[in-house]
Amino acid sequence: MEKINIQKIILAKKQKRKIAMLTAYDYPFARILDDAGVDIILVGDSLGNVILGYENTLPVTMQEMLHHLKAVRRGVEKAVLVADFPLAGFKNAFVNVKQLIKAGADAVKIEGVNNLALIKRCKTAGIPIMGHIGFTPQDIKKFGGARMQGKEPKDVKRLVEEAKMLQQAGVFALVIELTTPEASKQITKAVSIPTISCGAGSNCDGQVLVSYDLLGLTQGAKPRFAKQLVNFSDLAKKAVKKYVKDVRK
Ligand code: KIV
Repeated sequence: MEKINIQKIILAKKQKRKIAMLTAYDYPFARILDDAGVDIILVGDSLGNVILGYENTLPVTMQEMLHHLKAVRRGVEKAVLVADFPLAGFKNAFVNVKQLIKAGADAVKIEGVNNLALIKRCKTAGIPIMGHIGFTPQDIKKFGGARMQGKEPKDVKRLVEEAKMLQQAGVFALVIELTTPEASKQITKAVSIPTISCGAGSNCDGQVLVSYDLLGLTQGAKPRFAKQLVNFSDLAKKAVKKYVKDVRK
């Protein structure tokens, strides 16, 4: 497969070619996803709950993001590599965005609409930013849990306005998480940048999932919307049990 870049991601919407995006947190998964033809690989701050065993994404540090990003970078040749901007990074935001780029990210994903000035500054500096609206996990305390967004027409209208503001600020693509399909449809129609659904229905220009949910590796609860295509946890447990049995024999 050919090398993907940000321009090709932007073009995909015009060409009506759906964008496939998944998360990776280490070298082997980066290799597997890249070889399988994923367009965008995200080192998500879901790193916190999926890999590091935290309750949610809030405790993830810049050091943890950088450590995993560097491992993923070594495994990605063709896909666009996006790094999530962790909550802990906002204290010295522009410096920290640059650190993620220096560590190998092609772009940085920033949640919400409260950082338009930062997004504009990055745009001016030539740093591609991906937006993220709807349910934003860094605001989990404000939302009181993973709650579906855009149920009322006024909420859909607000989400469309947020998407337009982010486009205006310069994001090249937009993750829409856990909204009604109607909301993601309206947003996708209202902006010229690609939208990528995370549990927001099939009306977007692409789809993203946490790879561990897709592959049945997530320990504990996983989002109801997350498609699971295989159960690697069961396979791994079976293999390890056989190993333990063989050793004891
Ligand atoms: O952190 C993450 O993995 C994400 C995606 C699920 C969109 O933000």
